[in-house]
Amino acid sequence: MSKQIQVSGLDAYYGSHKAIEDVSMTIEPRSITAFIGPSGCGKSTFLRTLNRMHEVIPGARVDGKVLLDGEDLYAGTVEPVSVRRMIGMVFQRPNPFPTMSIYENVAAGLRLNGRVSKAQTDAIVEESLKGANLWNEVKDRLNKPGAGLSGGQQQRLCIARAIAVKPQVLLMDEPCSALDPISTLAIEDLMAKLKDEFTIVIVTHNMQQAARVSDRTAFFNLAEQGKPGKVIEMDETSRMFTNPSEKATEDYITGRFG
Ligand SMILES: Nc1ncnc2c1ncn2[C@@H]1O[C@H](COP(=O)(O)OP(=O)(O)OP(=O)(O)O)[C@@H](O)[C@H]1O
Ligand SMILES: [Mg+2]
Repeated sequence: MSKQIQVSGLDAYYGSHKAIEDVSMTIEPRSITAFIGPSGCGKSTFLRTLNRMHEVIPGARVDGKVLLDGEDLYAGTVEPVSVRRMIGMVFQRPNPFPTMSIYENVAAGLRLNGRVSKAQTDAIVEESLKGANLWNEVKDRLNKPGAGLSGGQQQRLCIARAIAVKPQVLLMDEPCSALDPISTLAIEDLMAKLKDEFTIVIVTHNMQQAARVSDRTAFFNLAEQGKPGKVIEMDETSRMFTNPSEKATEDYITGRFG
């Protein structure tokens, strides 16, 4: 199920403002890729171009190519909705549907996929909650509202919702920034487990987290305010954190700026 993403020459705009310029990279399947860099350098924007969420914003557009196992996600024949199903997303703030039960939250995406029987839905809900390391904590209260869970549980619920539709890629934009350290470690453990099955991309401001969880890291930066963000360097995380090629990467990683 896990797939490779190849990006070449990607620019992303908000109206006339170019937010990122000429990004090219390969994101490998069955691995975790981290995006790091200072605020405003376009990490979230780039992440949203990977599943065609960027163009949802009025005036926003993309140039360049994104290939999922060789298939052009921006080809005229491709439906953005099907791209978003193949490439799921988890956001910074856990955003369960507040009035829906835990069960309904996980099942929500399945309904959109067409007819699924009650028995099949039950099985997928259980499997997804197990996959998100949440089943044991919620199995006795599946019909209670998702909003009644702790922040860390809500984020795992959102991950369960995302994996229920069996995406090939999981994009996570600062998924732990609203969580306490224990919940953060629970999500990191979960990511390590999920990478056997999914291609995972995570945006994080936490350098320790990038170093702990990711296999490869891309460092984004802006030449100056108002200029578009670019990828300065991308490599194996172990090398990026011990022996980066670029001074800007080293300065950022060691906390000298950003
Ligand atoms: N909806 C939007 N409309 C217009 N401009 C936007 C929009 N979202 C982001 N931008 C601009 O695009 C640039 C990149 O923003 P983006 O949110 O991608 O950065 P980021 O690296 O994710 O930052 P952070 O680390 O703070 O989340 C910024 O100049 C930002 O102001
Ligand atoms: Mg962001």
